[in-house]
Amino acid sequence: MIKNVRDFYKKKREKSKISMVTCYDFWSAKIIAKTSIDSILVGDSLAMVMHGHPSTLMADTEMMAFHTSAVFRGAPGKFIVADMPFLSFRKGVAEAAENAGILMKAGASAVKLEGIEGHEDVVTHLIQSGIPVMGHLGLTPQSIHTIGGYRVQATEIDEKKHLAACARNLEQLGVFSLVLECVPAALAAEISRSLSIPVIGIGAGSDTDGQVLVLQDMLGMDSAFKPKFLRTFMNGEKMISEALEQYASDVVSRKFPDESESYS
Ligand code: KIV
Repeated sequence: MIKNVRDFYKKKREKSKISMVTCYDFWSAKIIAKTSIDSILVGDSLAMVMHGHPSTLMADTEMMAFHTSAVFRGAPGKFIVADMPFLSFRKGVAEAAENAGILMKAGASAVKLEGIEGHEDVVTHLIQSGIPVMGHLGLTPQSIHTIGGYRVQATEIDEKKHLAACARNLEQLGVFSLVLECVPAALAAEISRSLSIPVIGIGAGSDTDGQVLVLQDMLGMDSAFKPKFLRTFMNGEKMISEALEQYASDVVSRKFPDESESYS
């Protein structure tokens, strides 16, 4: 299990794959805490998954800290990465440090920042302040309006070169790990090989140093969400619906509670 950033480097050196899932709440964190999952991401995807917003742009630092502290209470032993939300690191170094500090005090072990261009100074400052930083390149959902939709990134040669250069720059700035989202598998493999920090992929093929998935996606909680990269490990939506229907039916038919479930 990963306890600190050194374990990330160790896993990379030992070619041992890193497993990461998102988590946004106390009770899921308690379940994850008992598993061999290496690390938890309190992703800003929580704005969509937990709050029903149309994009991650609606997450703010207060929302991220609220969920991070719940996850920390449920899984205090896990390495927790918290996303720095939209614009929270784009208004200068001081405000970025303030916001990162709020997430660290809520229980994060590290923060994740999307992109690199225009906030290189923030990445450096946070690391120099003792805050481990994870990078995030490829499909960066906070830029969805400039990207123009959720789709595979870096498909053209110049885009591939640019992405690889950004990844190298992030490594040089000192990030301890990098998420690559929705990029061609061959490009992700090449970047993973060329960096000494671990690359965690989502929709980036099998040759990265680790994988991350949104917990609710991998548990099949939304049957309508079926991107190509997603594997569902159970049919959560069906199982939960069936359990709820069974409960409703047992209440209506007076099968629940029975004598063993009642106090004498
Ligand atoms: O917010 C999130 O869930 C993420 C993952 C998709 C990597 O950033």
